[in-house]
Amino acid sequence: MYKKNKLIIFDTTLRDGEQSPGVTLSVDEKVVIAKQLSRLGVDVVEAGFPVASPGDFLAVQKIAQEVGHLMEGREKVGKPITVCGFSRAVPKDIEATFQAIKDAPCHMIHTALATSDIHLKYKLNMSRDQCIERAVSAVKLAKSFCKDVEFSPEDGARSDPEFLIEVLSKVIAAGATVVNVADTVGYKTPREFGNLVAYLIEHVKDSDKVMWSVHCHNDLGLATANTLAGITNGALQVEVTMNGIGERAGNTSLEEVIMNIQTRSLEYPVYHTINTKLLVPTSKMVSDLTGMAVQPNKAIVGRNAFLHESGIHQDGVLKNKETYEIIRPEDVGVYTSNILLGKHSGRHAIKTRLEEIGYGGNSLTDDQMNNVFSRFKNLADSKKSAVTDDDLLAIISDLFSRA
Ligand code: KIV
Ligand code: ZN
Repeated sequence: MYKKNKLIIFDTTLRDGEQSPGVTLSVDEKVVIAKQLSRLGVDVVEAGFPVASPGDFLAVQKIAQEVGHLMEGREKVGKPITVCGFSRAVPKDIEATFQAIKDAPCHMIHTALATSDIHLKYKLNMSRDQCIERAVSAVKLAKSFCKDVEFSPEDGARSDPEFLIEVLSKVIAAGATVVNVADTVGYKTPREFGNLVAYLIEHVKDSDKVMWSVHCHNDLGLATANTLAGITNGALQVEVTMNGIGERAGNTSLEEVIMNIQTRSLEYPVYHTINTKLLVPTSKMVSDLTGMAVQPNKAIVGRNAFLHESGIHQDGVLKNKETYEIIRPEDVGVYTSNILLGKHSGRHAIKTRLEEIGYGGNSLTDDQMNNVFSRFKNLADSKKSAVTDDDLLAIISDLFSRA
């Protein structure tokens, strides 16, 4: 029996995910999501792009200060979440990123530069030599600030593999500790992407000294398949977002990768330390705060993911759930609550229900919790029917919009 490696879950919901059209999160909303990601067991949170705006800087800094040391729910992970900030390969970004993340006990700078000819020619107006020079000096500068530095060749999957080998070998020599193969436009097939990862690992100099990461987009609906192909070909870090949110058709979804390697564990040489029971609650929270609805038939976290409509299926499930269920709903946090929330409900019931919709543990401060409780009581008093999850979510959204 071979030994499995731990898969590092790098969550970029707050950086690439927030780049979804129409999504903007406030500083407090980002902090509450980061707390939940920490409880979920995510290894690295990419908290934002500090130079993008003063609000982004503040959010990354607050996450470093308020979430970077938390250990609640992280027994299996064994250490606090690493707080990462994103920067282009330019000194002002890298310096600002370090200022924003430095208060977290574990922190990392992520710097990126496009390497494909199409990006070099039309976007950056840069030669290949200039690209190498810029990438190397960015990594050196980041390394002068912190020991963990990730480099991403943007549009790496459409870059000339031989040029990619040269760039990655040089950024590793300059101090990069993670190299991230990015399929920025979701172009590759799983076979091609897996082969590319294997080829790079085989040919890049000192490839065994760094963590290999993959970052996929979903333009052709293949982000999860490509990420899994990356894992089977040697990647030990995956960059993902909750509900797969992100630019255009989105990023690889965290819940899909986790439940694939859990459900089909013999297929993958890795294990994870995510608390899967928090997947659905976290999905609800992210959907609520970003305003991005989850499609009903979305794998793992969609409303219909565990519902059975046809008579034949219902008959089968009633006889034995395994006829049509490959995952137990309770393992991903699908709850069927028998507690009705109304004016007689106490704090315990509210707290339990909040946990089930993503606001458990320390995600809300004591003040925020008191505020939710008193608004709940007012609403329950004035309502003829029970207080629903949507009512609770509305109370929470209102809380954040007034903060
Ligand atoms: O899609 C992408 O290429 C990115 C990075 C810059 C890693 O988000
Ligand atoms: Zn991306």
